Parts: sequence; structure tokens; C-alpha cells
Amino acid sequence: MDSAPPLLTPYKMGAFNLAHRVVLAPLTRCRAYGNVAQPAHMSLYYCQRATLGGLLISEACAVSEAARGYPDVPGLWTDEQVEAWKLIVDAVHAVFFAQIWHTGRVSAPEFQPNGQAPISSTDKQVPPQVSHDGHVNTFAVPRRLETNEIPHVVNEFRIAARNAIKAGFDGVEIHAANGYLFDQFMKDSTNDRDDMYGGTLENRCRFTAEVVAAVAGEVGADRLGVRLSPFTDYMDCSDSDPETLALHVIHRTLNPTGVLYCHMLEPRMRVNPDDGKLTLPHMLLPFRKAFRGTFIASGGY
Ligand SMILES: Cc1cc2nc3c(=O)[nH]c(=O)nc-3n(C[C@H](O)[C@H](O)[C@H](O)COP(=O)(O)O)c2cc1C
Repeated sequence: MDSAPPLLTPYKMGAFNLAHRVVLAPLTRCRAYGNVAQPAHMSLYYCQRATLGGLLISEACAVSEAARGYPDVPGLWTDEQVEAWKLIVDAVHAVFFAQIWHTGRVSAPEFQPNGQAPISSTDKQVPPQVSHDGHVNTFAVPRRLETNEIPHVVNEFRIAARNAIKAGFDGVEIHAANGYLFDQFMKDSTNDRDDMYGGTLENRCRFTAEVVAAVAGEVGADRLGVRLSPFTDYMDCSDSDPETLALHVIHRTLNPTGVLYCHMLEPRMRVNPDDGKLTLPHMLLPFRKAFRGTFIASGGY
């Protein structure tokens, strides 16, 4: 073992004895027809990526009908969805966490019940986004959540987390990254609220804090991971001070709750306009130092 590359050495993540440190990142595949995970091909897909003692994170699972923003994503809000996941989780011999998700305003009428407006922290629409193949994606005008509706969304995450454990997952990861609902609350380019969920940093992070508390209360902080992407501006969602934002979430919510792991996206390299060279303006190291649990990094590996 002494000569093994560090990535391939064992690691104890809370109660989980991992055989190595290579983790499968959550990857949406859009093949869960009718929002029900498909045991036949999804068991094969996850087993192909499993190793004994490895850690897998599932593709993002919607917490409700209104949480969807893409076609055929799996859900975790009905018994049928739980039963389908059970067969897949049972087939996979690895540590397996379910990622739970709400896209917020990153949605379109065809994904919403009765074509209703998707919910968000704001009523500002995501501008059309051009994908890598030149396709232009458009989004619905969102509906700003009323203050008294927010506990209902928090509760949807609690129930989805409970369902994930019922399905046999070892834990859950809250998808608080990539411009989806949590980022829409946390980041100041998007959050334009003037209630207790907007304005100050503490207020903008309140929704995330409430969901973390609810899910930790339901399944235990020792089975809870949180994914953040402070430096990402995906889906027109960015923050003017991403480092302070992420440190706030770590110090005020993740550490005091005793969250098992913090999963972050690496900042992308940028071309420096002065000399045309690629530079990396930010690093994840301050967060790794600040977070007391296990730190996972993703992006460009
Ligand atoms: C097709 C595709 C689907 C993805 N789906 C998810 C997802 O469901 N949840 C999530 O948190 N990130 C998702 N991501 C982001 C990846 O987990 C990963 O963080 C990102 O691709 C950066 O890593 P890379 O540079 O190695 O690609 C997705 C990325 C791709 C390309």
C-alpha cells in the first residue's frame, strides 16, 4: 500500500470505509422514462461504474414534479419511484448516495405540472442559453416564491431524502450547485428578494440552511453531503463575492450541522486578457481548510 498513488489508498469517510478516493460525479442522463428510474439499464450503468468500497453519487433526482427542468429525470417523490430505485441500489455494490434536486427557474412549461410557471427566488427569467452543439435553450418566466411557501419546498427535500434512504441509498447529497434553486437563492446576481430570504448574506443562505437542517434531521448529518459551486456562473447565476459566500455556508451551516461531506466544483481556467495566458483565478483550498468533514472536488480531472 505504501507505494499506491494517494487516490487509490483507503479512506474513512465518517462510518463509510472507502477502498479508494475516486468518486463518480452526479451525471444527469435523462433516461428515467416517466421520471421513474429504469432498473434494467440503470442497474447496468451504475454497476459498470461501481467498485467495491467506492463512492457513487447518483444522477440528480427531482424532489417533486415542479422540481424538473429536463426530460426523463428520475424522481424521489412517489412510492413507484422508490421501488424502482430499490432494484438499482440493490444491484450496486458500492457506497451509493442519491443526489436530490430542484431546478427552480431552470425549467420550461413542458416540465411543469399544467404548464405552470416554475418557482424561484425571483421572477427574473434565465436568458436563452446556447449549448455546445449550437442549440438554443429557452426558459420559462419563473414565479417568485412567497415567503410562506418556502417551508413547503424545504419539506419536499426532507421527504425525498427519506425516500432515498427507503430505497436503500447510503445517504443523500443536496444539489446546491450549478445555478439551480439553491444557487438562485444564495447568489446575488439572482436573488432580488426583500424578505427574510434575500438581501444579507445570511438571508440569501437561509433556504440552504433550512434544507440542510431538515434533511440532517431526517436522515442524519452523517449521511448527508452538500454540493456547492461558488465560482460557477452556469444558467446566469453568479455571485459578486463567491469566496465569502461559500465560507459563510461552511462556517454557519455545514460545520455546525456536522455534514459528512462537502462537494465542490473546481473553478474553470480563464484566459487572462492582459497576456492571453490561461490562469486559474480562484482555488478551492480555503474551503477545504475551513470544512471539518470530507472534502470532494470535481471538475476537469
Ligand atoms: C451531461 C452532464 C450531466 C451532469 N449532471 C449533473 C447532475 O445531475 N448533478 C450535478 O451536480 N452535476 C452534474 N453535472 C456536472 C458534473 O457532475 C461535473 O461536476 C462537471 O461535469 C465538471 O466536471 P468535468 O470537468 O470533469 O466534466 C453534469 C455534467 C454533465 C456534462
